[in-house]
Amino acid sequence: MSHSANLVIVANRLPVDRVTLDDGTTEWRRSPGGLVSALDPVMRANDGTWIGWPGGTDGDMEPFEDDGLHLVPMSLTQDDVEEFYEGMSNGTLWPIYHDVVAKPEFHREWWDRYVSVNQRFAEKAAEVAAREATVWVHDYQLQLVPQMLRELRPDLRIGFYLHIPFPPQELFQQLPWRRQILEGLLGADLVGFQLAGGAANFVRLVRQRVGHKTHRDLIYLPDGRTVRAAAFPISIDTAGFEELARSEGVQERAKEIREALGNPRKVFLGIDRLDYTKGIYARLRAYAELLQDGHFDVEDAVFVQVATPSRERVEQYRILRDEIDRLVGRINGDLGRIGSPAISYMHSSFPREEMAALYRAADIMVVTPYRDGMNLVAKEYVACRYDDQGALVLSEFAGASDELRQAWLVNPYDINGMKSALLQAYRATERETTRRMRAMRKTIITHDVAAWARGFLEGLAGAGSSHAKQVRP
Ligand code: G6P
Repeated sequence: MSHSANLVIVANRLPVDRVTLDDGTTEWRRSPGGLVSALDPVMRANDGTWIGWPGGTDGDMEPFEDDGLHLVPMSLTQDDVEEFYEGMSNGTLWPIYHDVVAKPEFHREWWDRYVSVNQRFAEKAAEVAAREATVWVHDYQLQLVPQMLRELRPDLRIGFYLHIPFPPQELFQQLPWRRQILEGLLGADLVGFQLAGGAANFVRLVRQRVGHKTHRDLIYLPDGRTVRAAAFPISIDTAGFEELARSEGVQERAKEIREALGNPRKVFLGIDRLDYTKGIYARLRAYAELLQDGHFDVEDAVFVQVATPSRERVEQYRILRDEIDRLVGRINGDLGRIGSPAISYMHSSFPREEMAALYRAADIMVVTPYRDGMNLVAKEYVACRYDDQGALVLSEFAGASDELRQAWLVNPYDINGMKSALLQAYRATERETTRRMRAMRKTIITHDVAAWARGFLEGLAGAGSSHAKQVRP
């Protein structure tokens, strides 16, 4: 399938997961993420191809089609997984880019492996992209791909989008390979960020560290190319979520969930990947203190916390899991009663339908990361509240807080502040929650993931000085 695709998506993960069935056979299932549904129409309109890792270390796999999408699996060896994925991507870059909430580790072998895996992704993209095609590279695992790809295929139009925050200079500077990363990204014609602040951090670093001239969102390279750095806040398939939430199955299930919880007056909900950036520990502590202080009782309210297993072989994630297990155990031991735990905790991942039912069942959605690129859970909750009901408590350090201004905004480092926001949301009148929810719904209905993809691809078509073809956004 060489030199055929007019649009190539390059991401660490493929948009499908390999699942093993009861009889031992395997099949591909579409990942629940919104990125897939956003890019689906553009992929089809442009004969698109998606390059990514299918998870695991099962060795080479042939490209295949899934429901009309061309997918090219990239295999990773055990060493690649340990040094490129768990090491450099999630033990170094992830914590640095998230305000050093956990301590990053620096290992030269991890970096070497990051370079070699990025090179393989770039080579694969060079192989499948048609002449003057558009290649859209995603996220922190693949920051060297734009430059590597440009060297192999100068005819291409190359975009890069970072899904996580781009850190301030003071933190980015710690990286022993800071210059290589900046230069890797500068291979793109357009570098997209969640927020304007991330784009500004990047431009400033390029000016100071690499020495290129810059003007506002433009960077002028010595070879005459221009690179643009701008914000494109990502979103969700708003209409799709609302439709799901309105379905009979989901409504029934939401009722069932509330009954199973003992029909308390208020249901609080947290849904996160089990990640130290998400602020799960502090949030549960704040909630427990409200019970302790006697503001309400375990018969009045319950906190449902879903923590999706994630990066389980990375040490920081193991430590976090133990800490949360212990905290939940202690809170329930101290405050729970028979049939009424304070916290209903699940360490598992659920399909979209169950997520929608949980959103429908929850009166107060609690999203309190210390740092988060966007946080799509907050937007999904809003999308599912077509009744204009439900309160959102949201960290000011989630990208989503830029748009969802009418949430109860909190600083997750301030436990008293969080307690007071949770209590306000608990006590809010219907009028108050409706006023806020309506305003937030307006925002995400117009700004959905399709608008995001269109915005980026239009920006990419207009960026750079290359003469590559344009894709139909
Ligand atoms: C974040 C990152 C994605 C990543 C996802 C899941 O959203 O921005 O690039 O795919 O987390 O993490 P995982 O390590 O399982 O791919």
